[in-house]
Amino acid sequence: MPKLLLTGGSGLLALNWTRLMAESWSVHRLEHRRRLQVSGSQSYSGSVETSKGMSTLLDLVRPDLVVNCAGMTNVEECEANPEGAQRANGDMPGALAMACHRRGIGFVHISTDHVFDDRQTLFSETDVPAPLNVYGSSKAAGERAVLDASPEALVVRTNFFGWGTSYRRSFTDSILSALRAGERPLLFDDVHFTPILMDRLVVLVHQLVEQRAQGLYHAVGDERLTKYEFGVLAARVFGLDETLLQRGRFSDRPDLVARPREMGLNNSKLCKLIGAPVGDAKTQLEHLAALEAEAPVKEIQQL
Ligand SMILES: NC(=O)c1ccc[n+]([C@@H]2O[C@H](COP(=O)([O-])OP(=O)(O)OC[C@H]3O[C@@H](n4cnc5c(N)ncnc54)[C@H](OP(=O)(O)O)[C@@H]3O)[C@@H](O)[C@H]2O)c1
Repeated sequence: MPKLLLTGGSGLLALNWTRLMAESWSVHRLEHRRRLQVSGSQSYSGSVETSKGMSTLLDLVRPDLVVNCAGMTNVEECEANPEGAQRANGDMPGALAMACHRRGIGFVHISTDHVFDDRQTLFSETDVPAPLNVYGSSKAAGERAVLDASPEALVVRTNFFGWGTSYRRSFTDSILSALRAGERPLLFDDVHFTPILMDRLVVLVHQLVEQRAQGLYHAVGDERLTKYEFGVLAARVFGLDETLLQRGRFSDRPDLVARPREMGLNNSKLCKLIGAPVGDAKTQLEHLAALEAEAPVKEIQQL
């Protein structure tokens, strides 16, 4: 079996990646502060910020592919600790890409739709990033560092949903658990995105790797929606009361850290390569609903 090393091994994406790939890959997860036991994977502990430690790990595991899911992902924490954000999101990905490049190991770096401002509605890979906050600028720096370090690396910008853990809830977890508890969650109706289910994202990234894709790709869903519109769709698919959803406006919240309201990404470069659309939000939410009863999903939810 080929070997896959996932950094950010206790995070939302890496745990779902493990669930999806454990039967076809030997999965190795690098954890940081939180230690876990997860079926179908072996775990290691360390920080991606120590390049010596990362080199030792690469030489120990000898992976065929590294997917960098590690990072400081909380926007408020990044704003409060810009040096830490720059180290984890801006500097570390380039060092890891270089270490993989030198060893002939495939490297995928996960980035975000948070790197643009509000100047247009759907951004392509050729559009120049213009981040509005520390998280966005540190992630944009990480993308550049990876592409500078390794011509064959793949950088994937995305924004995903799916089933999370007790300590790391996804956007859909927050909406569904609030609606199921009869609460009235507030969702912004002036913030747009192009969400993708993690299950679809992981399969697409492996397709890109198989096709030896290099450089920057947007791996997102086909539909640009507001957070509120997405919440309404989720409520309908799960048979929950959509009238509980409250429509809010980010522009009425100057107290929050600045964020882009236009995070929609154009996925046509990816669709052209795979020869198919990614999928609309309703179809992907139906897939999410079908997954809820599966044992590997329950294992993640119980972490
Ligand atoms: N969630 C989304 O919707 C979303 C949207 C767009 C892009 N992304 C990108 O997708 C990637 C994965 O996101 P996620 O939601 O899965 O993140 P997450 O759940 O917040 O997990 C981040 C992981 O990174 C680890 N980590 C942090 N600093 C580290 C360090 N110095 N060394 C090693 N590991 C470190 C964390 O470990 P500890 O907690 O133990 O420190 C955690 O396991 C990130 O790059 C993020 O920017 C996410």
